[in-house]
Amino acid sequence: MLITKSIIWNLYALAYNSITESTSYCRLINSIVDYLDLKPGNKILDLGCGNGNLEVEIVKRNLEDIKITAVDISPQMLKRAKAKLKGNKKIEWVQMDIRQGLNFPATSFDRIVLLHSLYTLPAPEEVLKNSARLLRKGGLLVLAEPRAQAKLFPVIKENFQEEGLVTAFFKIFLNLPSFFWIMLINQIFLKKEIKKSRAKLSEEQILPELEKNRLTIKKKTTAYAGQDLVIVAQKI
Ligand SMILES: C[S@@+](CC[C@H](N)C(=O)[O-])C[C@H]1O[C@@H](n2cnc3c(N)ncnc32)[C@H](O)[C@@H]1O
Repeated sequence: MLITKSIIWNLYALAYNSITESTSYCRLINSIVDYLDLKPGNKILDLGCGNGNLEVEIVKRNLEDIKITAVDISPQMLKRAKAKLKGNKKIEWVQMDIRQGLNFPATSFDRIVLLHSLYTLPAPEEVLKNSARLLRKGGLLVLAEPRAQAKLFPVIKENFQEEGLVTAFFKIFLNLPSFFWIMLINQIFLKKEIKKSRAKLSEEQILPELEKNRLTIKKKTTAYAGQDLVIVAQKI
């Protein structure tokens, strides 16, 4: 199971670097780091870190003594992430399947991020429960996942509005191969899981799930051209 999953995400990694061409995505990353409200000395856990875009943004903020544990199932995602942040001592890269219990000491993190990583897991509630266990009292969990009815068109439209017709058109044109590759993997390997998981990540389902795990909602908003649900929750 671990091997099959990591192979699928390794294939995804081949095209995933192109996501930083999207202004909606860059804005999302920026806002997630803002919501994290990082303080010097914070220990941060990023579950499903992908190719390290969030880590790049956190490091840019130049906070002292922070430590990031960035976890992903895919060696290829981690390889690309490490290449972006070569030798950065603030980050520990860990290859791990986040469905397998999250084997870290309880209450050992000040901040936990789940950014577009729950929506492909058939049992996202298990990861939420384990994340809550790892968060210290007063610590923050920041979560951003596609909404149950998320569509691609509003994201494309936002990019056209932000960048202007010509730039956006060329960017999309140049990245078409990556775009189709990702769509293909979603359709062939992930479609069923995404459908199951998204239903469990609807606002009505996720808010009680967080409360059940002693995570109180501090902020609830949308991002990514309105297609993501973003929640900031605090451990009580
Ligand atoms: C859509 S990407 C998002 C990556 C990153 N958080 C971002 O927003 O750019 C989903 C990531 O979750 C990782 N992932 C999927 N299932 C996982 C699992 N069971 N355990 C650990 N990571 C997983 C994938 O390898 C991939 O890097």
